[in-house]
Amino acid sequence: MKILVLSGSPRKTGKTGQMVAAFKDGAESAGHEVVIHDVGRMKIGGCLACEYCHTKGEGTCIQKDDMQKIYPDLYSADAIVFASPIYYFTMTAQIEDAIQRFYPTGTIDNIKKCALILCSASPGVYSASEAQVADMSGYMGWEQAGVITVCGADEIAPEKIREAFDLGKNM
Ligand SMILES: Cc1cc2nc3c(=O)[nH]c(=O)nc-3n(C[C@H](O)[C@H](O)[C@H](O)COP(=O)(O)O)c2cc1C
Repeated sequence: MKILVLSGSPRKTGKTGQMVAAFKDGAESAGHEVVIHDVGRMKIGGCLACEYCHTKGEGTCIQKDDMQKIYPDLYSADAIVFASPIYYFTMTAQIEDAIQRFYPTGTIDNIKKCALILCSASPGVYSASEAQVADMSGYMGWEQAGVITVCGADEIAPEKIREAFDLGKNM
């Protein structure tokens, strides 16, 4: 199975990055292919609602930015993982921009499964992101494979790293 990971942290070696690395190790141990896009560090504009994609563009976006690097993987992946720090009770603006740029096709039928990894300083800050991904999965027809949350300023507990590994392995 090909798994696309959209990783929303602008920090290269932050907690999200560590959890994604463990997820990748687990997924690869089960024979899956994992493609990671660090959207937190990419230049991706918000959707312009210009409707070019639904008219002249015939499914392509008019904005020729870093989202163009993601589209081929988006349209060939079997599963998708959203991994992000929590910024003000939602996923980062960068990953939200990438998600909203799914607009050219609306639903993405090649993807069958999704998972969510969220990192934060405080507990109890995940409800908006969990609801968003649950609603989006319902709309897209994706099975939800799992949600992992990690909180606190200290190093990530080994059990959480293991949870990410196992989520990857069991996708
Ligand atoms: C702009 C900004 C907003 C944040 N907002 C929240 C928040 O609302 N709740 C929370 O628990 N942590 C918040 N945090 C803390 C991050 O979620 C936390 O440090 C997370 O582990 C960062 O992930 P990373 O190490 O992958 O970059 C915020 C951090 C930043 C920079």
